[in-house]
Amino acid sequence: MEQLTNKIIFLTGGSAGIGLECAKKYLQNGAVVVIVANTAESLRTAKQILNNEKAHFILCDVANAHDVEQAIKETLQLFGQIDVIHNNAGVAQPSSPIHNTSDDEWDRLFDVNVKSIMLTARYGIEALKKSTGCIINTSSLVGEIGQDNHAAYAATKGAVNALTKSMALDYASCKVRVNAVAPAGVWTDMLRKWSNEQPDPGSMERYLNNIHALGYCPEGDVVADACVFLASENARFITGHIMPVSGGAELGYRVVTVPEPVVL
Ligand SMILES: NC(=O)c1ccc[n+]([C@@H]2O[C@H](COP(=O)([O-])OP(=O)(O)OC[C@H]3O[C@@H](n4cnc5c(N)ncnc54)[C@H](O)[C@@H]3O)[C@@H](O)[C@H]2O)c1
Repeated sequence: MEQLTNKIIFLTGGSAGIGLECAKKYLQNGAVVVIVANTAESLRTAKQILNNEKAHFILCDVANAHDVEQAIKETLQLFGQIDVIHNNAGVAQPSSPIHNTSDDEWDRLFDVNVKSIMLTARYGIEALKKSTGCIINTSSLVGEIGQDNHAAYAATKGAVNALTKSMALDYASCKVRVNAVAPAGVWTDMLRKWSNEQPDPGSMERYLNNIHALGYCPEGDVVADACVFLASENARFITGHIMPVSGGAELGYRVVTVPEPVVL
């Protein structure tokens, strides 16, 4: 049964990876999906893959206030309402300890992963208040437990978690729910790039399977199913929740094959 019939979903980073899987599931559940991404090529590819007239595509850098304002304006002009804002776009470079992170890398990480959430809220909150809609943020397990050689990225996801809880409190009186999903690893271009940057890329597949208690590193469909739930009426009394979609990766106390530690 469709869980999101005629909901208008504004989905950032929906042209690839986890976002593209979310777009597929949102469409399967009867929603109209406005897919926002920063490269025309990835939008074209997503359009071909989705091949669905209920999918709409907007070129937009989520770190740019003007772009986000225009994208939300266009969505409202086309569809008259927004029921869900899913802040999913993200970047993960560099794989470095904090002292090797440049100012530009730091700024880009925080602009794309964190500031974007402020911008979609700034331009989209009035629409969500009208629809008593919800916000979903794609966080990461590393925002809670940290990650070696990836401090700046982990810090952005810690900020996403704090924002999710604080925004949930701010908007609860307007009946706007705010939740996050927190995957560990998910096979996407982002993860493949990160894997290739590790000291022993050949060992990463086994490592990524092992860190998940359920024994494998998933594709984005598992995250998408959780997002459909959070966007739906079934989650009507859930707000401020950071939902792990991590095959138990956060539970610890297991023997895992770890790569050699990096000597700083
Ligand atoms: N893949 C993982 O293992 C993993 C784990 C935990 C959390 N996450 C998070 O999931 C989200 C999606 O990651 P993914 O693995 O699917 O990545 P991906 O690189 O496969 O896809 C990223 C998407 O975001 C878009 N994007 C990037 N920068 C943008 C910008 N400035 N403006 C607009 N769109 C932009 C890209 O065009 C693409 O559509 C990210 O927030 C990421 O941090 C990923």
